[in-house]
Amino acid sequence: MKKEIESLISDLTTDQKASLVCGKGAFESASIPSQDIRGLIFSDGSQGVRKQRYVQDHLGMFPSIPSTCFPAASTLACSWDKKLMFRIGEAMGKEAASLKVDVLLAPAINMMRHPMGGRNFEYFSEDPCLAGELASSMIQGIQKTVSACPKHFLLNSQETFRMSVDEQASMQSIMEYYLPAFERVIKQSQPDWIMSAYNKVNGEYASENAFLLKQILRKQLGFQGAVMSDWGGGNDIIKAIRAGSTLEMPATNGQSKNEILKAVEEGRLEVKDLDKRAAEMLEAIQKADQRIEERKGSLKDQTPSYRYHHQLAFAAARKSAVLLKNDDNILPLDPMKRVCFIGDFEHFPIQGNGSAAVNPKFTENFKVIAKKYLNIPYKKSLGYRLHDESVDSKLELRAISAAKKADVIIVLAAFPLCESTEGLDRRKADLPENQKHLIQSLAALNKPIILIDAIAGAIELSIEPLVQGILYTGLSGQSSLEAMFSLLFGEFSPSGKLAFSFACHMDDHLVTNFPQKEPISYHSEQTKVGYRYFHTEHIPVRYPFGYGLSYTEFHLNFAGANKDGICFEIENVGNMDGDAIIQLYRKWEDHDEVSSEEVLVGFERIHLKKGQIKKGFIPFDEYTFRRYLPQSKRFAILKGEVNLKLAWNIEEPIWSTRIFLKDGEDVQPEVETNMPVHYRKSAWKMDLETPLEEFAHSPNRAAAKSIEWLIAYRDRSLKKNSPNLAVCALLSMPLKSICKLYPDLMNFDKAQALIDQMNEPSESGCSELIRLIHTVFKKDFSNSKDPMPLAPFNLEFVETARKPEDSQAGFVSIQSLKDKNPNPD
Ligand code: BGC
Repeated sequence: MKKEIESLISDLTTDQKASLVCGKGAFESASIPSQDIRGLIFSDGSQGVRKQRYVQDHLGMFPSIPSTCFPAASTLACSWDKKLMFRIGEAMGKEAASLKVDVLLAPAINMMRHPMGGRNFEYFSEDPCLAGELASSMIQGIQKTVSACPKHFLLNSQETFRMSVDEQASMQSIMEYYLPAFERVIKQSQPDWIMSAYNKVNGEYASENAFLLKQILRKQLGFQGAVMSDWGGGNDIIKAIRAGSTLEMPATNGQSKNEILKAVEEGRLEVKDLDKRAAEMLEAIQKADQRIEERKGSLKDQTPSYRYHHQLAFAAARKSAVLLKNDDNILPLDPMKRVCFIGDFEHFPIQGNGSAAVNPKFTENFKVIAKKYLNIPYKKSLGYRLHDESVDSKLELRAISAAKKADVIIVLAAFPLCESTEGLDRRKADLPENQKHLIQSLAALNKPIILIDAIAGAIELSIEPLVQGILYTGLSGQSSLEAMFSLLFGEFSPSGKLAFSFACHMDDHLVTNFPQKEPISYHSEQTKVGYRYFHTEHIPVRYPFGYGLSYTEFHLNFAGANKDGICFEIENVGNMDGDAIIQLYRKWEDHDEVSSEEVLVGFERIHLKKGQIKKGFIPFDEYTFRRYLPQSKRFAILKGEVNLKLAWNIEEPIWSTRIFLKDGEDVQPEVETNMPVHYRKSAWKMDLETPLEEFAHSPNRAAAKSIEWLIAYRDRSLKKNSPNLAVCALLSMPLKSICKLYPDLMNFDKAQALIDQMNEPSESGCSELIRLIHTVFKKDFSNSKDPMPLAPFNLEFVETARKPEDSQAGFVSIQSLKDKNPNPD
């Protein structure tokens, strides 16, 4: 602890120290005016800054203050462009600073374990080297003005039951696959903060997992900053403080603070542990102040230019798009060709949903942009409905008749927003039936079809053989349309490369049972995720990791290795300026069962004018040759041969070499990396950490019926592709999180009493549960566009159920309300 912080700590009372480590409101930390300690302001950011207008609006029920909506990380990552990430980080930092934000809760850098992960759109890649390198640059950009908070440490791999699920992975998979993206950002960019994940990691909640936070994060990776919990991700605050969690978010109305004071008084929490966490908070405040001081010097430069940021969003969308298919060079299009657009291009999907959702500063107008690029009139038709998968023959016929008059058909492939939403895993593996049917009908016209794939991440793309061109845009931010036109009409050559694999079928992935609905999600596939599995096991894919076409052509003239890295010379031998992305993979011939054969260890994106030749260099770093030795639980460089290859993508090598490593040398100090697995729960036990949804199996039939009712309500809304997100969120929440997020409604004692009640075999007596659900809705969702479900959670019913003489109230009333209200929608 620094001297000056140490003396500040000694001036604080236990009460003051306790309030420092508990949040204040939804997005702030506590201040202690008497000691001149200010609070910090946090704001979400992944695709841009989400600063809510009202301090208590943590769920984003009201629109946030407008800011630049950049492409989602899953799209940005396809640019493989570190400089671009830095500039976007810088822009987000400036916008955050201008809104008086101290800490931007970004970027999100978890691995995409499975394409159906609901929050993949916010994550960079299935590869830790790519994710870690890009996120490091973004963090360096952000931290020019405000603190960054990469998240969610660690193994936040699914949205289903994310607040309770126990993600269990072997130490080797953690070390080789899940940790390195965090390792790179910590070592290369020293973020001021890290957010712990909601889930458990090998039996302990991430926020109270001492092994994860102390042994791995601080000791092994050398993290010097502060750790905050995810929102409502806290559990036992005493355990969290001991384990190394600095701050619990959001505020719990004094509950957590009181627990701390009690624990100190009873000797269950040592003051030295509290002091350490309070010191981390003070240091984080100092860092934030330092950033304010640094930016004061160049105030003019720090004022965000939203026009320039819009241009940056445009450049990012253009640089990130991936040309997946271009038969007979159908693209770029001749502006004199008659074009027909099919799909809802006016509502082009630009971003995902949840805490990352941004209120875009500027919006685009299809007609205005189309006019800029097209010299002759074009046709447009809807073709299908996004929220209803059934084929609408009228819409389809209209689209076909519009397409008949065109030379080229451009179809928008899109998913409803609920397929890229925090809190919900994806349900669709392929395009919806109506979109597939439409494309089949259009294909019968024998005209070229170009598919614009605006879906975050990989889908099966079974209609791929029917189209001539595919441009993957993903969720590409507030300048999506302009970028799409610019690429389609050849103003810029597509140069993005996939940051994830497109499998032929979802079932081809080794990860099975995704998402896991049981309490434990075993990562039995070890590190064999995405290309690490497909390439190692020779499973054919539709498009491999790193893949992407271009309008121009590149030639690798020369490559060679020296002790520092691989140098090469590349030439643009095509007819257009463009960017080449050279990838470096390392291969172990003798990889073990757990590891994959080849992994990405470096890359470079180079801009080349037509005919230009440039030299490139991909340096070796501490990750290039190290191997994790499971027996001795450490990384080492082993004597022997290693293969290195330069490639256009994982399946397309350009050049390879063998390197002989001389000395067997440790690359990391030996640390104990044998994470204890705490306990295994094979089935939900109906306790504080059980997601509410599971109480449908509660022995208390009244409680079970209310939950069943909510589930049916949710499922109906999901079927219509417009889920009631409030209901979805509530059903996946365990009571322990409800205590943290709604402290004025619930505390741990009350929650335990409720659990006891729900575990009591009975036909009645769930009024507490019903009252809770009702109040949560009334409190947080009354302004939401998602209406509160009526029966059986209406106030009238709760009031009747409250009367003690009405012991059967719960059950009877639900029945009667159901009868009155056969269709709860
Ligand atoms: C998300 C975090 C986010 C936080 C605050 C949580 O639900 O998981 O990524 O930063 O909310 O909005």
